[in-house]
Amino acid sequence: MKFAVAIDGPAAAGKSTIAKKVAEILNFTYIDTGAMYRAFTWYCLEKGLDCQNHDECVKVIPEVTIKLRPNHVVLCNGIDVTKQIRETRVSGNVSYIASYKEIRLALVEQQRAMASKHSVIMDGRDIGTYVLPNAEVKIFQIASVETRAIRRYKENMEKGIPCTLEEIKEDVKKRDYIDSHRDFAPLKAAEDSIELDTSNMSIDEVVDAVVSIIKKTAKEKGIDL
Ligand code: CDP
Repeated sequence: MKFAVAIDGPAAAGKSTIAKKVAEILNFTYIDTGAMYRAFTWYCLEKGLDCQNHDECVKVIPEVTIKLRPNHVVLCNGIDVTKQIRETRVSGNVSYIASYKEIRLALVEQQRAMASKHSVIMDGRDIGTYVLPNAEVKIFQIASVETRAIRRYKENMEKGIPCTLEEIKEDVKKRDYIDSHRDFAPLKAAEDSIELDTSNMSIDEVVDAVVSIIKKTAKEKGIDL
């Protein structure tokens, strides 16, 4: 039987790090929905579009095909954009793109199709509230802005993505604001989600906590993982 885990939360809370590890442990498929919004944003920027112009950006929906490959490779129209979608210019524009309902509807359709085939762990902003409202487990992962900015800064340094800590902090705050104030499917904890404040937790501690919640829920529901 298929099992779905939703991990939502603000920017750079470490959702994808945790989701990847949990997926490996439980042999679930990991779906990074943020990577899809980022790939769409990359495409708009490459085309020279103004990401704050709704009409200009929704017009290109039929031109964009995004694929999530194993090993976390992201393809946009067949081009490997795995690295480019993490760049500062993409982070700085993605929340505008993600606020356009037409783009969300197109990407959510793909996300739901992926979840219908496998047991999944999907991370994003609206997974528990909108994409997979019937997910068996819903986690809302948070951490202080300072912790999140430092985590993302270190991650970018490791990946060779140029940035400053101050830039990251501003980006995280700006995205959280736009993501939680948009009209359609905003960033919000689902009523039946479990909040995990990871500010003072190590990666392994968070992974253990999430795996325990999943195992406990599966047992209660009589589902074999
Ligand atoms: O990893 P990080 O927290 O920086 O962000 P992400 O998960 O890669 O998502 C990038 C952006 O995509 C977010 O700031 C949102 O604007 C948007 N997003 C969304 O609106 N809905 C989702 N389900 C996932 C991401």
